[in-house]
Amino acid sequence: APATYENLRLSAPKPGVGLITLHRPRALNALSSALFSELNTALKDYDSDSTIGAIVLTGSEKAFAAGADIKEMKDLSFSQAYNTDFIASWSSTIPHIRKPIIAAVNGVALGGGCELALMADIIYCSSNATFGQPEIKLGIIPGAGGSQRLTRAVGKSKAMELILTGRNFSGTEAGEWGVAARVFDSAEECVNGAVDTAGKIAGLSRVAVKAAKEVVNKSQDAPLREGLEFERKVFHGLFGSQDQKIGMSAFIDKKKPEWSHE
Ligand code: HXC
Repeated sequence: APATYENLRLSAPKPGVGLITLHRPRALNALSSALFSELNTALKDYDSDSTIGAIVLTGSEKAFAAGADIKEMKDLSFSQAYNTDFIASWSSTIPHIRKPIIAAVNGVALGGGCELALMADIIYCSSNATFGQPEIKLGIIPGAGGSQRLTRAVGKSKAMELILTGRNFSGTEAGEWGVAARVFDSAEECVNGAVDTAGKIAGLSRVAVKAAKEVVNKSQDAPLREGLEFERKVFHGLFGSQDQKIGMSAFIDKKKPEWSHE
């Protein structure tokens, strides 16, 4: 793994928290292939780093990300897009990251930027953030999950309106619609809020947190009966973990649990 990245800044603002800041300021964090490849590497590294319990992904105050890189896509032919399975790298890694990812969205999160935020487990944003799927205005459609994840998040009618017109929506709207879990007054508060939440999650049982993420995600693509059965199996499995014994003993002994980090 590279110690330094061209398009990312990495830091550890709190014990257990890995903060990834997209840093391609001249292009408003447009998601070039190079940037996305670095992002995948950084996420994989944090996922396998035992000191990290949760990840925060953010951009700048102006831009979370202004979308896929239009300059890279402009001359792409169908056969190039098809043969290289263009954009497949966007889903090669993030869906397999097992630690929670919180997106702290400030400024624009447009097109692929909005889709990247929707790939996170939790979205926090500032009230004046700008979300949107403007692809229709470029003669294309969302290609990294926007038509599916946004629709699950806001319902069909609203998703259709947004995707068919390409109109933006604000951070305030994202909060009202449940796209964002929390809305903050400023970019700084948003990032701090995400880091705080990530820190809290990082202080919990690692194995239980992974299991919780896995079962909630199951709800997004499984029929209810299958999801419920999956939840119960995973729930049963946790009785084989040290942390279940540690957590319940600590409750009964009126102590703070010292998680195993197994
Ligand atoms: C490449 C981009 C870019 C993008 C901005 N830039 N967005 N480059 N791809 N998506 C570049 C500009 O070309 C410009 O570079 C510099 O960043 C600053 O942008 P400006 O437009 O000058 O800034 P501003 O006037 O403040 O406007 C901000 C903006 C606008 C409203 C966000 O940049 C914009 O509309 N961007 C495109 C948004 C969009 O359509 N996104 C969807 C992309 S399609 P120069 O060199 O001129 O200084 C997509 C498909 C995803 O995401 C499908 C599968 C992944």
